[in-house]
Amino acid sequence: MSAAISTQTVVAVIGAGTMGAGIAQVAASVGHTVKLLDTRTDAAALAIAGIRAQFDKMAAKGKLSSAQAQAAGQRLHVAHQLADLADAGLVIEAIVEDLSIKHQLFADLERVVSSHCILASNTSSISITAIGAALSHPERVAGLHFFNPAPLMALVEVVTGLATHQNIADSLHATATAWGKTAVHAKSTPGFIVNRVARPYYAEGLRLRGEGAADCATLDALMREAGGFRMGPFELMDMIGLDVNYTVTCSVWNAYFNDPRYLPSLQQKECVDAGFLGKKSGRGFYDYRAGSDKPLPVSASAQPVPADIVICGDSAAASALADRLTAAAVPFSRAKSDDGRVAQAGAAVLFVTDGRSATQRAFDSATANTVLIDLALNYATATRLALASAGQCAPDATQAAIGLLQAAGLQVSTLADIPGLAVMRTVAMLANEAADAVYQGVCSAAAADSAMRLGVNYPQGPLAWADQVGLPNIREVLQNLAVSYGEDRYRISPLLQRQFYLGKNFHD
Ligand code: NAI
Repeated sequence: MSAAISTQTVVAVIGAGTMGAGIAQVAASVGHTVKLLDTRTDAAALAIAGIRAQFDKMAAKGKLSSAQAQAAGQRLHVAHQLADLADAGLVIEAIVEDLSIKHQLFADLERVVSSHCILASNTSSISITAIGAALSHPERVAGLHFFNPAPLMALVEVVTGLATHQNIADSLHATATAWGKTAVHAKSTPGFIVNRVARPYYAEGLRLRGEGAADCATLDALMREAGGFRMGPFELMDMIGLDVNYTVTCSVWNAYFNDPRYLPSLQQKECVDAGFLGKKSGRGFYDYRAGSDKPLPVSASAQPVPADIVICGDSAAASALADRLTAAAVPFSRAKSDDGRVAQAGAAVLFVTDGRSATQRAFDSATANTVLIDLALNYATATRLALASAGQCAPDATQAAIGLLQAAGLQVSTLADIPGLAVMRTVAMLANEAADAVYQGVCSAAAADSAMRLGVNYPQGPLAWADQVGLPNIREVLQNLAVSYGEDRYRISPLLQRQFYLGKNFHD
C-alpha cells in the first residue's frame, strides 16, 4: 500500500474550468502548492481569484481562520507554460474531453516533469488505458475522477488503466483520502463506477414514461417520496442537461459494443434534437420559461377508509402499514400471508410488485382484484406510494386499496399497469448493474455502494438496498421483467444469481 503524497509536493492542475478550479481549491486547502495552467488567456488567474474568494467566504462563515484562508489562497499560482510544471509531483489534467488533445498534453508533459511525477486525468468517460497508451511510462498514469462541485462532493474514483502500476493507484487513493475525500478504486471500463451504475436510473424512468406509466412530475415525485432519492430522473436530467446525459449514455452504450443494457432512449434523443436540453435551454422534460409552473404530481382523489382492512404477514410493507394505521387510529385486523399478499381492503388484495404486471399476476393467481404497490426505501416514512391495479380488477376494489393507503397517511399515485412499477424496477436494475460491475472486477461491492451514495447522493448503495429488499425478491423482479419484455436488457447478473444460490447477500 503506497502512502499519500506529502503536502510538500507541488500539485499541478491543467485546465482551469469548472473541474480544474474545484480540484485546485481542494489541493490548496489541504496545504499543497498548486500550479494552475490553462490555454485560455487569464483563465487560470480568474480561477485563482474565484478560489480565493471562496476561501474568504469560508473564513467569513468561520469554517477557516482568516490566516488559513490567506495562506491557502497564497498557495495557488498561475502557470504560464508546461515548463513551469517541472517541479510538480502530481499533475491532474482537467482539460477538454478529447482523447487526441489529452494524448498530446500528456506526451508533452512527460518531457517536462520528473520520472517520479504521477500523471492523473479527471476524465469522466475516456479510457485511462487509452490515455496511457501514447506515453513512454503509462504505468504512472491513472484516473482521479472528482465529481462536480469538487470541493463539496466527497467521492473520488481512482481509475486504473491496463498499464497503471498498483502503487500509483494506491498512492492516489491515499492522497484523495488525505484530502478529505472518500476514494474508491475502479478499473478503467466505460463509465467507471458511477456513470455506469447510474444509467438505469435515467433509462427506467424514460421507459416508464415512454410506456405511459405516468407523467414526469408523478414519476419524479415517486422516486423522491417513495424511493428517497434527492431528485427524480427527469428533474435530474433537466439539471444535468439532456444533451450531456444523452452523450454519456451513448458513450457507455457504444463502448460496450451496443450492449442492450445501455440502449439510449429515443424520447431523450427527440428532446435533444428539438433543443429541449433542460434548465439551461429553458425547456427539457419540464418547461422553465417565464410564466410556466412546474406541474404537480398526480395523486389519487380521497377515498373513504375501507371498513374491512386486513394486514397480512409481517413483511416490511405489511408491518409499516400496520404501524401507520395504528398511529392513525384506523381499525384493521391481522392475518397470515400464504401467497405474499400484504393486505386486503374490501375486495382488493394488495401485493408488493414482483416484476409481473398486475394483470398477469391476477391471471396467474386467478385473483381478479389484484392491486400492486411499489417498493419504498422505508415504508414507515414514505409519503407517497405507487399503485397499479389489474385490468381485471373491479373499480371499487382499486378504490378500497387506495383508501387503505391514504388511511395510512400516504399519497397514492396510480400508475398504468407497467411491470415492476417505478421504484422497484429502478432499484432492481441499479443493483443488477452494480452487481455486474463487481462481477466483472471493476470495483468491490463496498466501492460500488459508496460511489453511488457519495457520487450521486443515492439514499442507499444499490447492493445494500438489494440486500435489504432481499436478493430472492430482486432476482424475481428482474426475471419477470426479462420475461415481460423479452429483452436482454433485463438479464440477471451472474453475481446476483450466485449470491442467490448461496443464500447470501451482497454484503455478507
Ligand atoms: P471546462 O470546459 O469547464 O474546462 C476545461 C478547461 O480546459 C478550459 O478552461 C479550457 O480552456 C482548458 N483547456 C482545454 N484544452 C487545454 C489544454 N490543452 N491545455 C490547458 N488547458 C486546456 O471543462 P470541465 O467541465 O471542467 O471538464 C474538464 C474535465 O473534467 C473533462 O475531462 C471532463 O470530462 C471532466 N469532468 C467534468 C465534470 C463536470 O461535471 N463538468 C465532472 C467530472 C469530470
